Amino acid sequence: MKILSVVGARPQFVKLAALADAAARRDDIEHVIVHTGQHYDAAMSDVFFADLRIPAPDVNLAVGSGSHGRQTGAMLAGMDEVLEEHRPDWTLVYGDTNSTLAGTLSAVKMHLKVAHLEAGLRSFNRRMPEEHNRVLTDHAADLLLAPTEVAREHLAAEGLAARTVVTGDVMTDVCLRVAESVRGTTPPLPAGIDPEAPYAVATIHRADNTDDPARLAAIITALQGLDVPLALFAHPRLIARARAAGIELAGGAVHVGEPVAYPDLIGAVQHAAAVVTDSGGLQKEAYLLGTPCSTIRSETEWVETLENDWNRLVTDPRELTGAVTRPRPEAARPPYYGDGRAAARSIDALAEHA
Ligand code: UD1
Repeated sequence: MKILSVVGARPQFVKLAALADAAARRDDIEHVIVHTGQHYDAAMSDVFFADLRIPAPDVNLAVGSGSHGRQTGAMLAGMDEVLEEHRPDWTLVYGDTNSTLAGTLSAVKMHLKVAHLEAGLRSFNRRMPEEHNRVLTDHAADLLLAPTEVAREHLAAEGLAARTVVTGDVMTDVCLRVAESVRGTTPPLPAGIDPEAPYAVATIHRADNTDDPARLAAIITALQGLDVPLALFAHPRLIARARAAGIELAGGAVHVGEPVAYPDLIGAVQHAAAVVTDSGGLQKEAYLLGTPCSTIRSETEWVETLENDWNRLVTDPRELTGAVTRPRPEAARPPYYGDGRAAARSIDALAEHA
């Protein structure tokens, strides 16, 4: 069986790590990796392949950044030739980025079968590009690999139950494995933060938070006013938008660092007193590692994390201080995201439905 994975953005490399490993453990699988080039900075791409021991991509479309239409269109144009050459049994797409949608559309148009990993997540917020990408992908794909029961329910409600298999969450496979490998090591934090004393970790990259200067300023002011030092691992979009709006990210509690390698992020979150983020993956990693999270959004796709206040949605930046300093919940964190074997189950499902 030939599987062709299409990836392009940072969280997809983490998911690919789990799938590439599970595929390599079976001798009946040929795995072709296509990188669209959506993320291209070394810190956003290459380090993930190196640290997570992912085989180098077989193809790189090198599309780079652009408006949604231009970026997605460039990927579509590049994919035809790749799919013609490889004619996979399955085109496997991941998550909800523009690379996901482009991989799906190009394969569907060529009558090639598509499987969607991390199917069925919904924010029900039609302003998010990710919501368009995941809804369109789920409805076009032939096999829906859902991470949770909630995702299965969403798919069933949209008439897609017959194509759905619940596998567990592949990011959990990687998170648990990497957390074990960095246990006991000191996380590298931006200068000025003592890793032995309490600190918080933050990432912010969504357009809703970065592209409105007043909102971004309010978020940064709230973070700077915290009474624990905060490591802000800054996505290139955050740096660019803050600079354009004349907002200084560093100051007060905030210490700015580059986007970090995955093991370093997991190490930092594992030891942190709190996480502040608008990332989907990081909310879930905080949950898995038992670090309370404040999510700067009005909704989340990973609704299970909200249980027992392990994750709290914060829409008004003025509520951030109270959320970040809330005590660590004592209640349990049920294992909603699987047992760390989701990738192997996904490969089994592909083989069964080939
Ligand atoms: C994309 C995904 C988002 C995911 C995120 C993870 C879409 C619609 N969004 O958002 O779901 O959570 O990846 O990071 O696909 N840039 C660089 N270097 C890079 C990549 C980007 O400088 O290597 C800058 C460029 O200015 C670019 C901007 O970041 O325009 C945004 O990048 P883009 O890939 O369009 O979206 P993300 O915000 O990263």
